[in-house]
Amino acid sequence: MDALRVILLICHLAALAGVVVAFVAHLSASRSFLRVLAGAAGGLLGTGLLLLAVDALDDESINWAKMITKLVISTAVLAAALLARSREDGERPGTFFYGAGLLALVNTIVAVAWT
Ligand code: HEM
Repeated sequence: MDALRVILLICHLAALAGVVVAFVAHLSASRSFLRVLAGAAGGLLGTGLLLLAVDALDDESINWAKMITKLVISTAVLAAALLARSREDGERPGTFFYGAGLLALVNTIVAVAWT
């Protein structure tokens, strides 16, 4: 299970890198990166749930309050990214786009600082 956990953690962090790259690229490039942002946000949620499942099966002690907080925020990140994509109308970055980025940042702080 340890190897699987490491692989999932790498995928989880790669998805986080995807969110950051898509966010910055959408801010600076002339084409839209909202599809990439939504895909990476979905990847974060999926790999996070798989990591949690592996920890639970391994009988690792789980901080459920932290996990539920991350799950709620992560779902909001995905929802905001999807809404930003569906409301894209040629205008430059809007509220949902910035909301997705801000919430992803909050979840990163929760992940690292809540021990
Ligand atoms: C925007 C969404 C998310 C972000 C930015 C994020 C960020 C991170 C980061 C930076 C780490 C590595 C730091 C560490 O190991 O302490 C991590 C680990 C982890 N994440 Fe996430 N995560 C997100 C969503 C989720 C979700 C939805 C779940 C599951 C409900 C989850 C479960 C985990 C688990 C189990 C670990 C392994 C380390 C631990 O037990 O704390 N993550 N996440």
